[in-house]
Parts: sequence; C-alpha cells; structure tokens
Amino acid sequence: MERIVRTCCLLLFLRFAAGSRIVRFDEPSVNKRILNYIIQHVNHSADPCEDFQNYASGHFADVHGDDGHFIIESNIRGQYNGKLETIFDLLKDRVFIDEYSVEEKVWRFYNTCLTAPSDTRSIKHYLELVSPGGNLTWPQFVPHGTLWAKQQFQWLETVAHLRRYGANTLISLRVEPDYFDNDKFSIFFRQPYLENMNDVDKIKDLLISSGVSSSRSAPLAKSIIKLNSDLQKLNEEKNPTFSVLTLEDIQNGTDIQLDKYLEILIGHPFESGFEMTMSDVKYFEGLSEVLENYDQEVVASYIIVQFSLFVRGLDGSDSESDSNNCVAAVAVQMELASDLLYKNYYLGQGKLEKYTKEIERIFGAVSRSFMARLEENRLNLTDDEVSYIQQKLLATTVKVGKLPNNVNHRRFVTNFYDDLNLDTDLDFASTQLKVLEHRTRRVLGQLKGPVPKGNSFYLLDEDQYDQNPEPRMQAVQTFIFVPYCLLQEPFFVPESHDVFKVSLLGFYLTRAMAIPLWTANLYYDSLSNYNEKLMNFTDNEGYINEMACLNRTTPSRDLQRRWDDVLSLQLIYNSYFGENSEFSQTQPAFTRVPLKKLFLINFAQWFVGLEDYAFFDLDDPDKMRLSEAVRNLPAFGEAFNCPKNALLNPTEKCEIW
Ligand SMILES: *[C@@H]1O[C@H](CO)[C@@H](O)[C@H](O)[C@H]1NC(C)=O
Ligand SMILES: *[C@@H]1O[C@H](CO)[C@@H](O)[C@H](O)[C@H]1NC(C)=O
Ligand SMILES: *[C@@H]1O[C@H](CO)[C@@H](O)[C@H](O)[C@H]1NC(C)=O
Ligand SMILES: *[C@@H]1O[C@H](CO)[C@@H](O)[C@H](O)[C@H]1NC(C)=O
Ligand SMILES: *[C@@H]1O[C@H](CO)[C@@H](O)[C@H](O)[C@H]1NC(C)=O
Ligand SMILES: *[C@@H]1O[C@H](CO)[C@@H](O)[C@H](O)[C@H]1NC(C)=O
Repeated sequence: MERIVRTCCLLLFLRFAAGSRIVRFDEPSVNKRILNYIIQHVNHSADPCEDFQNYASGHFADVHGDDGHFIIESNIRGQYNGKLETIFDLLKDRVFIDEYSVEEKVWRFYNTCLTAPSDTRSIKHYLELVSPGGNLTWPQFVPHGTLWAKQQFQWLETVAHLRRYGANTLISLRVEPDYFDNDKFSIFFRQPYLENMNDVDKIKDLLISSGVSSSRSAPLAKSIIKLNSDLQKLNEEKNPTFSVLTLEDIQNGTDIQLDKYLEILIGHPFESGFEMTMSDVKYFEGLSEVLENYDQEVVASYIIVQFSLFVRGLDGSDSESDSNNCVAAVAVQMELASDLLYKNYYLGQGKLEKYTKEIERIFGAVSRSFMARLEENRLNLTDDEVSYIQQKLLATTVKVGKLPNNVNHRRFVTNFYDDLNLDTDLDFASTQLKVLEHRTRRVLGQLKGPVPKGNSFYLLDEDQYDQNPEPRMQAVQTFIFVPYCLLQEPFFVPESHDVFKVSLLGFYLTRAMAIPLWTANLYYDSLSNYNEKLMNFTDNEGYINEMACLNRTTPSRDLQRRWDDVLSLQLIYNSYFGENSEFSQTQPAFTRVPLKKLFLINFAQWFVGLEDYAFFDLDDPDKMRLSEAVRNLPAFGEAFNCPKNALLNPTEKCEIW
C-alpha cells in the first residue's frame, strides 16, 4: 500500500515538474511579454534625438492597425471592455430571480443595446421620446398642413428638459464641490463648448435624420450655422473668470429666467437669493438677444442639432450596434454597476489590495521626491509658503476604483440604482434615455448632501469621457482616482519589473499629483479650503522665468499642461534613478536594453497620438508634448547618446520648481 502511494506521488511530482518546465519554455514571463509589447512599436530607423515619438512608437499604428487602436488609451480601454464583455455575456445564462438586481439592470441595458431594432436608435426616435416642453412637439412632427405653434415654444424650457438627460445645449450646468466651501456641492453655469459648424451637409444630414424634410433642411442648416457663429462671438474670452451670483443677480443681468430652468431640471423652486457660480457672463448677457433675432423654428432646430450631436457622441447610440459599443455604453453610462461587476469578477481574492498596494508604493516614492524638490525651494518662497504646498502634497491620496471605501459595495450600488426601472422592451433610445435620466438625477441629487470625503469619497460626475484610462485628480479634494480600466497587462502588472510600472502609470500619477500645484488650484489648502496665501504666485519671478523658458522654442496652447509634463517626467525619472531611489537599478536578465532607455521608451508609449488626436484645439499634440518633456530632461541626451544641441538635447533645459 505504501509503495503504491509513493509511486502515485512520484508520478504526480514528475508531471508537475514537466508541467512547470513547459510553462517556463512556452509562456514568456510577464516581463518578457511587456517588453515585447513595447519593443515592437520601436522604429529603429528613426533618430531618438530628433523625433522621439517616431523612435519609441513609430510602428504603433501598423502593429495595431487591425485592432483599430491607434493610441494607447484606446488599447487599454479595448482590453478593459473585452473583460467586461465576458462578464456581461455570462449574465445572459443566469436565471434572474431578482429583477431588481444590479446584474439584471446591466443585462437589460446591454441586451437592448445589442438586439434592439435599428429604428429604435434613430435620432428621430430619440426626439419622439423627449418633448420640447408643454404640449408642444418638434416642428418637423406637426401633421402635414398644420402649423407649428411657434409662439408656445420656450427655448429655455426646452433646454431644461434636455438637460435632464445630460445634454448641455445653449446653457452648460455642472454640479461640483463649491469653490469656496468644499463641504457642499454647488451649481456652475458656463457657456457650452461650441464646436465650429461649417459643414452644411453634415447639419443637413442631422436634420434629415431627425425627421426634417430635405427641402426644409437646406435653409435651416444655413441659419443654424449662422446662429452658432453668433453664439461663439458672444464670448471669445480664452481664460474665463467666474463669479458667485444669486439667482436674482443673474436674472436681472441676463434676461434669462434661470429659476424656471432650475425648477424644470431639479424639480423644486429655488429662492431668488440662491447662490451659484457663473463664468462666461458675457455669453449669458447676450444669449437671449441673439436667440430673439432668429425664427423660433431655427432656434428649435439648432437645439435639435446640438442634442443629436450629444446623442451621437454617446457610446452605444450609433445607428448600428455592436458589442464593443454596447459594452462601452454600459461601462460609461452605468459606471458604478460596471465597477462592481468588474471588481467582483476580476479583482477578488486580494487582487485589488495587491494593485492598490503597488500603486501606493510608487505614489509614495514620487511623493517623497516631490517633497525633496520643494525643500530645495528654487523659487525662493517663504517657509510658510513652502509648508503650505508640502501640506497639500501630503494630503493627497490615491483611490483605486470609483466606489467608496467604507461601505458594502453591493449594497451601495443596489441602492444607487434602486429607482432605475428598465423594462424588457427592445427600444434602445427609450432604455438609454432612462439610464441617462437616472444618472443625471443622481449627479444633480448630490446638491442635497455634503461632499463625500475621506473613506466615503466616490466619484460621480458627468464627464462623458470618463472612460479615459488616466489617473484623474480631483484637484480641490486632493484625491487621485485610478480607474480599474488601467489595471491591465501590459500597462500595469503588480508582478512586473518596477521599470515598467514606474515609467508608465508612475508618470501619470505624478502628473495628477502636480495638478493641485497648478496656479488656479493653489487657492485650495490641504483641507480643500479656499485660501489666498499663494494668490500672487503668478508674480513669482522664478515661476515667470520657468513659464517663459517652457514657451520659448515652441509656443504652447496649454502651457500649464506642458509645465506638468516636464515637471512630472523630471520627478518620476529622479524617483527611479536618483540618489535616494528605492527601485532596483540592476540590469534585469530579461533584456539587454539599458534600464534608462527602457524607462523612457515605455514612458513615451503614452504619446503615440498623431496630430488629429489633440483634443479639439485646446491641447498640444502628443509629439510636441513628448518632445518638450524629454528635451527638458537632462538625462535624456545621455541615455540616447544624443549629440550636443540635437533637437531634443538642447544645452539649456527648463527646470521646474
Ligand atoms: C521610421 O522612421 C523613418 C525615419 O524617420 C521613417 O522614414 C519611417 O516612415 C518610419 N516608419 C514608420 C512606420 O513610421
Ligand atoms: C396643454 O393642453 C391642455 C389641454 O389641451 C391644456 O389644458 C393646457 O393648458 C396645455 N398646456 C400648455 C402648457 O399649453
Ligand atoms: C433686480 O431687478 C428688480 C426689479 O427691477 C429690482 O427690484 C431688484 O432690486 C434687482 N435686484 C438686483 C440684485 O439687482
Ligand atoms: C497680492 O498682491 C496684491 C496686490 O499687489 C496685494 O494687495 C495682496 O496683499 C497680495 N496678497 C498676498 C497674500 O500676498
Ligand atoms: C533665489 O535667491 C537666490 C539667493 O538670493 C538667488 O541667487 C536666486 O536667483 C533666487 N531665485 C529666484 C528664482 O528668484
Ligand atoms: C507663449 O508664446 C506665444 C508666442 O510667442 C505668446 O503669444 C504667448 O502669450 C506665450 N504664453 C505665455 C503664457 O507666455
């Protein structure tokens, strides 16, 4: 008996040994996989000292041409959404006992998106479901031979109705922590971002797909374009200032009945002394007058066009449905539910803790090198000022995932969606509008409570692009939020070599960490209270010189971001390779590429975007951002043996802080 047992165990042991040998030979280690991912993008014919973007990622587009990911963000998002799709597909086979469960609601939205007939996704259908207010219908829907009752049309009422789904047309409203009292939420009004409209055919097509006849669409499109340009002209201020105003002040100064707007949107009357924050006041002052100059049908059609652009900009609402789109729709529009399901499925058994611990370790290292930099005090600030900034930095914490730390996540998410009722009718527009309306109601509902802080902090805002896989800084609250989306191989793997983790996610953590030091954010102290101690910081001679230095070679569209890129690369690089580094400098066995090169090449993966990826016309393109970051890093020229005064190795570098 004993002998048999021994043989059996020996066999098992042998098989195990063979198995582990196979693993070792066939499957590259995680470091090798990451290395391969990075190195395949390198264009060895390019000169890193002249064009680092081309060198580090010149082959990115051809490697990823087939999967359609032309920037790393899209690659990360693609992986994350692929994992969510696995979960959503599993929901299909579950027998749902509880139709009120989060899973059931997610499934209904996802399944409707996948299978609803295409006529339920048309713009015309969306408009059938949302009314311009009162008993009125949209001009194109009045029966043939009758007139649209234009005298009943109230543009303000209409935009308030549409705002209930998150669409900011003509007026942009946000609910955010108050600038002066960080314990409460406040309402912010500003001019909506008005994209240039000059493509008559595009506007015509939108109108036609919303049900306007093609003969009517041509003259309407022309007037809409003119109206848009008149609205743009109302306020061409680049750096808007904001003011705190009462409802009464605003109504007296602007001729806009914002009380009515708020009541329709939020559902209860507001007192005339109610305070709000407004920027672009000039725009609001001129808005009514501009709109009065146009026929009300043009104004209504302008609103329709803006609403159509909003709808078409949402994931999932393209005229064709596919699973990528539908997963993205759920991930963005039901983000707390998606976070819960993702965490339960992929981050259980201590995985989330492991990721969090690694992120905090890197964060701690950068934070210490940042503190040391502040201590050097190159800007000759007073002790008091240095300490103010250091306290701010010390107060900054990282938060992984959107849900609050101190509650049971399932209960929290279930409560969050308890009043979202989706039926099983396969009508996509109707389902999506319910999801959006619910989400908007929750965001606006935050006005009623205090700003969640510390362990209760969670992220709920209306940024429709919030699937962007970047660590995000809540500047006033000093929280750096890291979305689950980012926790994907090859971008961040806890078990991988530090050089990968620090250069990529570490850089972005540093960028986020520096945002509280942007001049506008210096108005908030470490407790997020408004504080004028550094209100005159922009007069600091050292700071002025820094900014001028950064702007010298290639003028920037957004110098503050360039400041952040340059500073963050210097800081993260020094945390890794500087004197007090906690990271290993020995050359790893898995590659012969020197660590410093590997660090910089991996860092550069964030900047593969071509010119057209610059967000509207506000950001510098990736190539410029990358060039400016490396040309100001003293170690760059050395790492790549750049000749003196190569484009990316100038003698004069800008040192920040
Ligand atoms: C690689 O760099 C060379 C030299 O600049 C350039 O001619 C070539 O187009 C680049 N290849 C790719 C795929 O971008
Ligand atoms: C809507 O129509 C009803 C009945 O026709 C009428 O009583 C009501 O006043 C109308 N409402 C508005 C806002 O015009
Ligand atoms: C607003 O206008 C009304 C009526 O003209 C006036 O009574 C009131 O004092 C004004 N309020 C402010 C804040 O200017
Ligand atoms: C900032 O500058 C203004 C005008 O020069 C001055 O009145 C104010 O006291 C300064 N504030 C601080 C906090 O130094
Ligand atoms: C800070 O003070 C030192 C010594 O007084 C001086 O050499 C330096 O130029 C000052 N730096 C700035 C940025 O003002
Ligand atoms: C940067 O340079 C451009 C062009 O020289 C100039 O118009 C702009 O004002 C500068 N920006 C700053 C912040 O100095």
